[in-house]
Amino acid sequence: MSGFSADWLALREPYDVRARNPAVLDAVIASLKAYRSIRIVDLACGTGSTLRALSPRLAAQQNWRLVDNDLGLLARASATAKPAGVTVTTMPLDLYRDLEAVLDGPVDLIATSALLDLVSEPWLERLAVEIAARSIPLYAALSYDGRIEIGPADPLDTAIVAAVNAHQRTDKGFGPALGPTAVAVAIARFEALGYSVVHGKSDWVIGPHDREFQMEIFGGWASAARDMGDLPLADTVEWLTRRRDAVAAGRSSIRVGHVDFFAAPMGTR
Ligand SMILES: C[S@@+](CC[C@H](N)C(=O)[O-])C[C@H]1O[C@@H](n2cnc3c(N)ncnc32)[C@H](O)[C@@H]1O
Repeated sequence: MSGFSADWLALREPYDVRARNPAVLDAVIASLKAYRSIRIVDLACGTGSTLRALSPRLAAQQNWRLVDNDLGLLARASATAKPAGVTVTTMPLDLYRDLEAVLDGPVDLIATSALLDLVSEPWLERLAVEIAARSIPLYAALSYDGRIEIGPADPLDTAIVAAVNAHQRTDKGFGPALGPTAVAVAIARFEALGYSVVHGKSDWVIGPHDREFQMEIFGGWASAARDMGDLPLADTVEWLTRRRDAVAAGRSSIRVGHVDFFAAPMGTR
């Protein structure tokens, strides 16, 4: 499964739903309570997981503009079941090239999930400046923050996690990625631009019974370690074999650190 495949996004969605920080989600919902109609732009929407997580919690009429550069994912997002009063338009577009185009026209909320750790510092700066110039609030969920706990411990875990975090900093189409530092950089930037920010952890908590998800995660981490090339390939293969054995035996668990935040312009809305 590739990093953005529909299968991978479907596999992770239940963990994302459980992980979303409830205090951050409540802050988003409270900020929109007075609206009779809300225009939301979802950046890098994938198959529409943020639409599914947020739209049932909002009482108002909603128009969602779903943006992604993957046409197959956009088609799935468009076909998602929607609550009454929710309309969706799709916008196939490369956010690296054409970010400004998605912000055209009136927008009440920008939403995104699992995007910010993929982007570079200049692109994040561009996003923050463009959003702040329009005084739009931002709900950014599920940014990976570099924390990984694996049980039971293995002697190679530290080296593999270091390789994973180094891989997170490589270019994902937006220039060298901020990876685990993205969310702290974003929060500091929005605060400096006069936003008030509510943030909280949204970790994946993955138990011994979650075998399929664990197998995919460990396979992805082994591929990242191979791509970085700092570890002997044979060590990575042996690590993956031990990890898979532990998953199959129902002895393995993982916690993956994420952070959600809601940034709202102060005193302007
Ligand atoms: C990790 S997925 C997250 C998808 C969705 N937000 C979710 O939480 O399930 C990252 C998404 O970013 C999209 N993406 C990556 N680079 C992009 C770009 N340059 N322009 C637009 N979308 C992009 C991918 O197609 C993918 O849907």
